[in-house]
Amino acid sequence: MSASIDNAHFLLRRLHSLVGLLPVGAFLIFHLWENSQSRFGAEHYNGVVVAGLQQMNYLPLLELFVIALPLLFHAGYGLVIAAGAQQELRRYPYARNWFYWLQRVSGVGILLFLLAHVGTTRVWGLVEPAVHTDLYGHLQGLLSLPWVFAAYVLGLLLAVFHLANGLWAMGIVWGLTTSAQAQQRLAYACAGLGLLLMALGLHGLIGFLP
Ligand code: HEM
Repeated sequence: MSASIDNAHFLLRRLHSLVGLLPVGAFLIFHLWENSQSRFGAEHYNGVVVAGLQQMNYLPLLELFVIALPLLFHAGYGLVIAAGAQQELRRYPYARNWFYWLQRVSGVGILLFLLAHVGTTRVWGLVEPAVHTDLYGHLQGLLSLPWVFAAYVLGLLLAVFHLANGLWAMGIVWGLTTSAQAQQRLAYACAGLGLLLMALGLHGLIGFLP
């Protein structure tokens, strides 16, 4: 009985790890790239980027199965893992460090940010269609408030850190980086990716400013 629970937990954890990269991590990168197009102005952003995506066939199905459900699974099981973190640290008192905690804290932070972000864009757009016809103007209005801009920079930082640090952890979880040297090399690559994504995201946020 307990062996099968352990087995299920092991499989769920592997699935959680995989889903963090694909599709959730891949979507985050796409989303940052998509929003970096804001620098080309309202006409390009609303008329080419947003309109192009909205014209895609099967969009609601893609949103549900490629974005919403994988993210809900990753976030839901992530909360279960985060809640058990103290127990794990007691079992392995010397094993994990700041990055172990930051991975969990950033996950909870991203969840709070996403509730506000999705609520004030996608969900608000269902009630108020003007949000979608001029998404650029809507975001410009929000981001011109200094505290909202600061909250977006923080949300971006948490998401990018979580993905970059998560990729580094995946190297160990999936047995790809077994030596200390390989782990060091992957750490540099992940830090580089993190910086690049941070620059892309900031570029996008600044592109919405009046
Ligand atoms: C932008 C959205 C997110 C992305 C791109 C993402 C990506 C990742 C990746 C790639 C990993 C590494 C998997 C591993 O350690 O094997 C990971 C781990 C983790 N994620 Fe996320 N994640 C996101 C949102 C969330 C949210 C909302 C939570 C909710 C609490 C969360 C909680 C966790 C936890 C607890 C881990 C560590 C798992 C472990 O150590 O086994 N993540 N995430």
